[in-house]
Amino acid sequence: MTDSLPPLSLYVHLPWCVRKCPYCDFNSYRAESELPESAYVDALLRDLDAERDAANGRKVQSIYVGGGTPSLFSTDAVARLLDGIRARVELAPDAEITLEANPGAADAARYAAFREAGVNRLSIGVQSFRDAQLAALGRVHDGRGASAAIGAARSAGFTHINLDLMYGLPGDSLEGATSDLRRAIALEPTHISWYQLTLEPGTAFHRRPPALPDDDTVLEIEAAGRDLLASAGYERYEVSAYAKPGRRCRHNLNYWRFGDYLGIGAGAHGKLTRAHGEIERRAKTRNPRTYIELAGTPAAVRIERVAGADLALEFMMNALRLPQGVPVSSFEARTGQSIASIRDRIDEAVSRGWMVDEPDRLATTPRGLEPLNEVLALFVPEPVARRA
Ligand SMILES: C[S@@+](CC[C@H](N)C(=O)[O-])C[C@H]1O[C@@H](n2cnc3c(N)ncnc32)[C@H](O)[C@@H]1O
Ligand code: SF4
Repeated sequence: MTDSLPPLSLYVHLPWCVRKCPYCDFNSYRAESELPESAYVDALLRDLDAERDAANGRKVQSIYVGGGTPSLFSTDAVARLLDGIRARVELAPDAEITLEANPGAADAARYAAFREAGVNRLSIGVQSFRDAQLAALGRVHDGRGASAAIGAARSAGFTHINLDLMYGLPGDSLEGATSDLRRAIALEPTHISWYQLTLEPGTAFHRRPPALPDDDTVLEIEAAGRDLLASAGYERYEVSAYAKPGRRCRHNLNYWRFGDYLGIGAGAHGKLTRAHGEIERRAKTRNPRTYIELAGTPAAVRIERVAGADLALEFMMNALRLPQGVPVSSFEARTGQSIASIRDRIDEAVSRGWMVDEPDRLATTPRGLEPLNEVLALFVPEPVARRA
């Protein structure tokens, strides 16, 4: 079975932040006082103890420590976490190990200690370099702090650095958004994640929406931004992900290629191939206190099985985010289904100019990548979702 199983990654969720940003719907909580980091690391390792058999002989190809704001944790706690992981699962010798950091929640000495602990890729949540936009987003850092964080990461020896930036911000303009990208590019990170700000249900911005730029301005920003990134040598390899050659995020690529992953931590999600044509989704209890209590027991996990047309849709939701797409053979290997089961939907997407017309590859065309939700609607199992 091991040979036929997809590659395996590990996601670790650390759920605390200095404060909650008004646009954020991630499972993150304002750190009220001192973090219960020792109890939380114990809980993570109990959680992994309960999950590790699912590795089924596979080496872990990548670890992603996300949040929340993982860089709020002490460097000792992160070192104990990574040592504990290594003692429980086998890591690939070249495993990619990413840690998310916020400007303002780390300095060069701490970055160096994270690197010492085994972290080899830093993802820094910059969002914008403009102080007015950062204030509107409720961020705790300013533009100078954002630039300083990249400098600190580099002097700590990191050679794989991602910057998260957002566009379509309150009060945004073409000039403003592209100036953010220019500043990011000038700092020469190896990877840039460039997200459109979305108003997520349950967030403060959703309840009281700020004034956002109109659709035409957003389209102009996107076109100009993609050109800027391309001419600076960043290849777009996912809807929002741009990388210098050889610097794509292997962890995220494994999600989009429908690989398997263990998820440990409050609210973490995992995906495991259980049988031919069936996957299991595992979601951990979201509240950090409850998680610390229950981690490692069945009460901390909600399990869902996905098969049939739902599984095909999930595969397409991931694969079609990649401009280069995936081989048809991987649809068959990862879902256990014949491509014939979705052939009519692919044909329809091709006839609309949304997917490439190639026998061996499933991929969106540049025209299909932008209305991605409409393309995906073709693969929703209920016939009612299919547009005439
Ligand atoms: C889980 S967050 C973690 C990073 C880190 N906590 C931070 O905020 O700097 C990952 C990234 O998702 C993006 N993001 C979060 N909420 C978003 C939203 N509503 N719309 C678009 N992008 C969002 C931000 O760029 C953020 O850096
Ligand atoms: S710092 Fe990141 S994870 Fe925390 S609330 Fe803000 S966007 Fe969400």
